[in-house]
Amino acid sequence: MKESFIVEGIGGKRVLEGNIPVRGSKNAVLPAMASSIIFNKPLTLTNVPDIEDVHRMAELLENLGAVPEQTKKREYVISGNKTHTSVMDEFLSKKMRASVILTGPLLARFKKITFPHPGGCVIGARPIDLFLSGFEKMGATVKEQKESFIVTAPKTGLKGANIFFHIPSVTASETFIMAAVLARGKTYLKNVALEPEVTALAEFLVSCGAKIEGIGTPMLEIVGTGGKLLSPKRVYKTIPDRLETGSFLVLAALAGKDVTITDCQPEHIEILTDMLIQSGVSIDIGKNTIRVQQSTKKNFRPFNIKTHEYPGFPTDIQAPTVVYLTQAKGDSLVFETIFEGRLQFTQDLVKMGADITLWDAHRAMIKGPTPLKGREVDGPDIRAGLALLVAAVIAQGTSTINNVYYIDRGYEKIEERFRDIGITIERVVKEV
Ligand code: UD1
Repeated sequence: MKESFIVEGIGGKRVLEGNIPVRGSKNAVLPAMASSIIFNKPLTLTNVPDIEDVHRMAELLENLGAVPEQTKKREYVISGNKTHTSVMDEFLSKKMRASVILTGPLLARFKKITFPHPGGCVIGARPIDLFLSGFEKMGATVKEQKESFIVTAPKTGLKGANIFFHIPSVTASETFIMAAVLARGKTYLKNVALEPEVTALAEFLVSCGAKIEGIGTPMLEIVGTGGKLLSPKRVYKTIPDRLETGSFLVLAALAGKDVTITDCQPEHIEILTDMLIQSGVSIDIGKNTIRVQQSTKKNFRPFNIKTHEYPGFPTDIQAPTVVYLTQAKGDSLVFETIFEGRLQFTQDLVKMGADITLWDAHRAMIKGPTPLKGREVDGPDIRAGLALLVAAVIAQGTSTINNVYYIDRGYEKIEERFRDIGITIERVVKEV
């Protein structure tokens, strides 16, 4: 059985009204859940989004012996201290690339891990070389078997090291922060990812006794505890999802009459708000809100984007922004620098009437404005799935978005929040 969304398009009108709340960040909560392994007592996490990837991470932790319990709506208590094995299940791990963040805390605590290659996915090959070479620098040996890797740390545990990430990978940065916190001696992490989710993890660990200097800069100096687990001294409150915020902003810009995005952190998505304002969208930024108000229909100006690590243009916002650019008047260029599969979804937009030329896997040109027509399309990944949903909302006629599962992986009950601002959307189950 597969689920789809049926969306009644509003045909380019700007009619949506009301508030749309942003939930906790998927990319922040996953490493925070993984960090429960380096704590000696249960960890409480709040503002946890009710999404598939959180359920997957809970399943993975449970499989390792940890006890993740949902105590309230959007609240979990995770007894990572009960983890008793560091052999990661192949089937569960391969279901989610982010499972790789468990390797750092598991290796630091158990001194040996077995994990499968997390695999590529629709957005690209997604190598793990940074993880393997980093573990080696911390004194571990890596053995590659047919289906898995076995990494063994020295008997005395991982040792502090000098690790330079040749690419500022988000999950590698998080993994090595957690590994270094428990290692022996000092670790220097250089060219660390600056994404707010990485900073949130590091700040939380510091508030629980970890010694990390340089947070918010590309160079961290971490003094390890030599194997001693941390004590949870406070509750982990998940930061708002900046990627969900960005997608809602595009939706409001294209179809909103008066829409307020609430419970968000506007400074985390400044690059998009700034570009949309310059393109002609009326945006009011509050402390935790972004309001889009449009009284007249005018043409938006096109702009070019080049995806980049934070605070540059997020690759995860590229897909909804492409939908926006199909409605701007003129040509826009999109250069996706991070992943090689992330422009493939544009085929579905072309099916809906967009004029997009794909020059190669990384570059596309969009000519706008083109009215979009309702169609049946497949949501190929988490971010593109939501982008196609936005396209369906602004299209003329009815659309069917398949593979809703991908949207559910990253966004909590999106249809309920869409309905609250005036979108007609229904979830249907298809027999297969
Ligand atoms: C995280 C986010 C994802 C986002 C991405 C880029 C989570 C759970 N996911 O994914 O939503 O799209 O950051 O902002 O936080 N790379 C290597 N070798 C490695 C690891 C990565 O070459 O060992 C490359 C990747 O192929 C990619 C680039 O580094 O080209 C950035 O990827 P990375 O930051 O690692 O993405 P994720 O952490 O997997």
